[in-house]
Amino acid sequence: MLNAVLVYFNVFLLAQSGAIYRRWLPNTDFGNSQNWNAGRAPCGNDIVIIGEDSPIVYVQTNTTMKELVLPTTGELILGREVSLGFTSEKPDESDCPDFDGDVEFSATEPASWMDKDSWCDTTTERGACNTAWRLDVENVPCKYDDVIFPRDHGYFVDISDMVAGMAVKSLKITGSSMSTQTFATFLNETEGKLMFRSGTSSPSLTITRKQCDDKGGCACGNDQPEISKKICDHVKKNCDRPRCRKSVMPVGMCCRYCGAYFNITKGYGFDLELFKSTLSKEFLDNQKDVNNIIAVMTGDWVQLVLSDTTGENSKKLAASIRDDLNKDLADGGHKYAIKGFQLFMETIAPDVSSQPSTSSLSGGSIAAIVICIIILLIIVGVVLVVFVYRRTG
Ligand SMILES: *[C@@H]1O[C@H](CO)[C@@H](O)[C@H](O)[C@H]1NC(C)=O
Ligand SMILES: *[C@@H]1O[C@H](CO)[C@@H](O)[C@H](O)[C@H]1NC(C)=O
Ligand SMILES: *[C@@H]1O[C@H](CO)[C@@H](O)[C@H](O)[C@H]1NC(C)=O
Repeated sequence: MLNAVLVYFNVFLLAQSGAIYRRWLPNTDFGNSQNWNAGRAPCGNDIVIIGEDSPIVYVQTNTTMKELVLPTTGELILGREVSLGFTSEKPDESDCPDFDGDVEFSATEPASWMDKDSWCDTTTERGACNTAWRLDVENVPCKYDDVIFPRDHGYFVDISDMVAGMAVKSLKITGSSMSTQTFATFLNETEGKLMFRSGTSSPSLTITRKQCDDKGGCACGNDQPEISKKICDHVKKNCDRPRCRKSVMPVGMCCRYCGAYFNITKGYGFDLELFKSTLSKEFLDNQKDVNNIIAVMTGDWVQLVLSDTTGENSKKLAASIRDDLNKDLADGGHKYAIKGFQLFMETIAPDVSSQPSTSSLSGGSIAAIVICIIILLIIVGVVLVVFVYRRTG
């Protein structure tokens, strides 16, 4: 009985430590209205053109047309029990809105693996997409994620800007589970080449089959500079201008934000879920207009990001959290199990901290130091002048 409880408890812990599904969103389906120049899928007596360089087109539903022009090399996959009908009869306007001209397949450019808009993160394979605020780099599959390309769709994926050394926990493409080796082979085969465009580079993706079993949490891995740069190339085009005079750029984010972030060093016995729930209960849940992210970063430190439109509420909240972390550090760290932290506000440079276990000097004390130095310089100057005056006089 006790064993069963322990096993259950362990499974529960593992399930909690961040494994999520990453589902690929864009498709090259025949029935997807976004994939056609007409803004709707072919119907009625359309003349349908699937041009050269088109990806694999997947047909899921019965459809009719007058004529179908296919590329010399390409692939049209008919789903189960799907048939294409050919007719020259003019259709009902209500079933098939009129379109002047040939209906052409327009999804001829692949979507990028490194583009966060290509992915949806879910807690179950087919579940709805989560909309929680995350680090930009964590919106692309992480080292501990299960990546899914669901069955019964066509895909066209650009992996040419993927960075060597990227890894995921598992990869399932239309029902087949891939290993590092079978995926590399697949990319080299006709079918794989039509689905994944790799350009001249031959990117490699490591499939680890390893889950995170550290209760302190595991780093996603995408915050490494080379990877994060590629991800940010996609995100940066759409950055909103921050509505504050001084903004911050948390690690793993591609845009500047109004607010603050912490760099927290884990202490002995640090528990990520406990840390999250304690902070949520005492601080984050009460501040509905402040968005927050808590993420484990490469190098095994923990980042807490706080942001709101003007940054004012985030900074107030950051100050309260800073005080509570300091209090806990002084009391022996039983509440948060951290070793130290730094708080960054308003600028790229940290709000100076001499020891890791104490937080920043306040603006007031910095001013005091500056004044002391100025006074000291004046005294030295006066002494020098007097000295020189004596020697020459
Ligand atoms: C397509 O039509 C055939 C017969 O015309 C039918 O048996 C089949 O169920 C249809 N398929 C779909 C996906 O509706
Ligand atoms: C890809 O195919 C070519 C020739 O078909 C072969 O020489 C090469 O070793 C293959 N590469 C991989 C990674 O399978
Ligand atoms: C955060 O702190 C760790 C050590 O505590 C350090 O290695 C890392 O560079 C810091 N990162 C930033 C962005 O301050």
